[in-house]
Amino acid sequence: MIVASAPGKVILFGEHAVVYGEPALVGAIERRVRVSARRLKEGVLRVYSDALGEGREFSLDELQDAGGAFRYVKRAVGVAFEEAGESSGLELRISSELPPASGLGSSAAVAVATLKAVLALLGADVGAERLASLGHRVELEVQGSASPTDTAAATYGGVLFVRPGRGIERLSLEGELPLIVGNTRKERSTKLLVARVRELREALPEVVDPIIGSIGRVTREARRCLEEGELSRVGMLMNINHGLLEALGVSTEELSRLVHIARSAGAEGAKLTGAGGGGCMLALAGERHGRVLEALGKRCEAMPAGVTFQGVRIEGGR
Ligand code: PMV
Repeated sequence: MIVASAPGKVILFGEHAVVYGEPALVGAIERRVRVSARRLKEGVLRVYSDALGEGREFSLDELQDAGGAFRYVKRAVGVAFEEAGESSGLELRISSELPPASGLGSSAAVAVATLKAVLALLGADVGAERLASLGHRVELEVQGSASPTDTAAATYGGVLFVRPGRGIERLSLEGELPLIVGNTRKERSTKLLVARVRELREALPEVVDPIIGSIGRVTREARRCLEEGELSRVGMLMNINHGLLEALGVSTEELSRLVHIARSAGAEGAKLTGAGGGGCMLALAGERHGRVLEALGKRCEAMPAGVTFQGVRIEGGR
């Protein structure tokens, strides 16, 4: 048996502006998806997930199907078979510390951990760059469109500076980044929120373009502060980024309330993370970690989610 795990992600800075060519900063978080894989004699794929309770069985011909239950898993297995030039009956068990559909990158982590486990089981392990690109392919096939960001975070770990069309750089950070995620548990559609910002920009380009440009400047300055370990300035910049996202209309009453609760409890900074409209917010907790966690926990599902430098890995359960 092989066990592989991959981390989820939070967008630290730059969501929405990245759609218009500005950079974004993404951090892999120490909440992981684990996939254990073993060969089966029967020619089927059997998948069990902690979250869904029961298991499902698929014939190996169904792996081309990018829809329905376990679609990321099915496509990841199909892509892994293609890459390895071999297929096999398989049993996969999936457990996740990431809430699904909340912008924390759980589908990318599932895709990357499944690819890693199955390729290792077949003796066809590939390098990180290839794995990130296979993971991105799985997301594209299932979702229709997807940026390479989530699968890159799941593969490499750490904090990534993403410049659309110009590649992804991994930063070397000074010290830890003690983050707390607050989940409103309100589902939202990234596609819809991106469309809403596009409409606002079309209606008021002269007003909205400078806001997008400011988010880009905030993100570039945040990169410098992160690399130099200036956490209180990172917090300040998170607060500014949240204000700019509010100006773009993607915050909600609940998200902004949680952001203010975190700040009042002593966070260095707080902002919504991801597309907005529900989903999650992020606080940089600093010394008041316990207080911020407690204050947020009274109002939402709050969880510590520090940045992890460990990308996808084999857990050694051979
Ligand atoms: O909802 P999330 O966390 O996947 O974030 C979406 C980020 C956006 O910038 C709003 C969209 C995108 O494709 O970059």
